[in-house]
Amino acid sequence: MVVEIKPNGASLGADVAGVDLSQPIDDAAFQMIADAWRDHAVLRFRGQQLDDEALCRFSARFGELDNAPVRPTNIPYHPDRKEIAVISNIVEGDVPIGGLGNSELVWHQDMSYKDLPPKASLLYGIEVPAEGGDTAFYNMYAALETLPAALRARIEGRECKHDATRNSAGQLRAGLQESYSNEERPGAVHPLIVRHPVSGREALYLGRRPNAWIVGMSDAESDALLDELWAHIENGAHTWTQSWQAGDLVIWDNRCTLHRRGPLDPALRRRMHRTQVRDEARPVAA
Ligand code: OGA
Ligand code: MN
Repeated sequence: MVVEIKPNGASLGADVAGVDLSQPIDDAAFQMIADAWRDHAVLRFRGQQLDDEALCRFSARFGELDNAPVRPTNIPYHPDRKEIAVISNIVEGDVPIGGLGNSELVWHQDMSYKDLPPKASLLYGIEVPAEGGDTAFYNMYAALETLPAALRARIEGRECKHDATRNSAGQLRAGLQESYSNEERPGAVHPLIVRHPVSGREALYLGRRPNAWIVGMSDAESDALLDELWAHIENGAHTWTQSWQAGDLVIWDNRCTLHRRGPLDPALRRRMHRTQVRDEARPVAA
């Protein structure tokens, strides 16, 4: 196996060629992949043919797999693999076969509402539309590097509560109320500036905008500061966008990137399987 890493020239992301992920990967090849993942944060492997077993096996090279988020009704999407999230806009009968559906998604980090968010997510395209349904990624090292010093000073040492009540499509998760005060809202508290445990670099850590709260601030003060931080994200161009082909496997580092799906024509079918890899430790302040 000759692993070839081809950076895509954007702020993040690289293609990895020469690897058949359905086959065993030796330690030397895996180390090249892990190093490239550290350096580029998002890797794409094209032309793969992965069943659920192979997807889980490769994902588990990065660490222990976490269980996937479940339906708003608390029932898993995947009939027999708790580790696999089905991400789809397809509705069979009246029942969506997967999560996130067709709604416009917001920039987010996966499952940062947990105390121990996944370090990696791996998304595999099974059925993808000819057009639309792209996934954009954002480099949060670059977001921090370009943050104006005065704005950085205002978040230095601060923590943010990451809302656990809604998913990235805005749907209320199982068993939760419609509204909460910021103090009582279920979720996890993480530093706004984190140090990546592998690269050693500092990154901005925002999770997602809706229902976020900077701990200890009034609602108005927190909203104003978060709006400034998110405006900085929206104004930056530290992105790379993945246009899907069936057989693409994309892995992203959830500790130093945001992602969001773009618009998707409801008439076109899109079906992906995702795994998420448990981190070894909670996000730590830089
Ligand atoms: C995810 C996600 C976006 C997409 O799987 O975590 O946000 O493009 N997916 O499907
Ligand atoms: Mn996501």
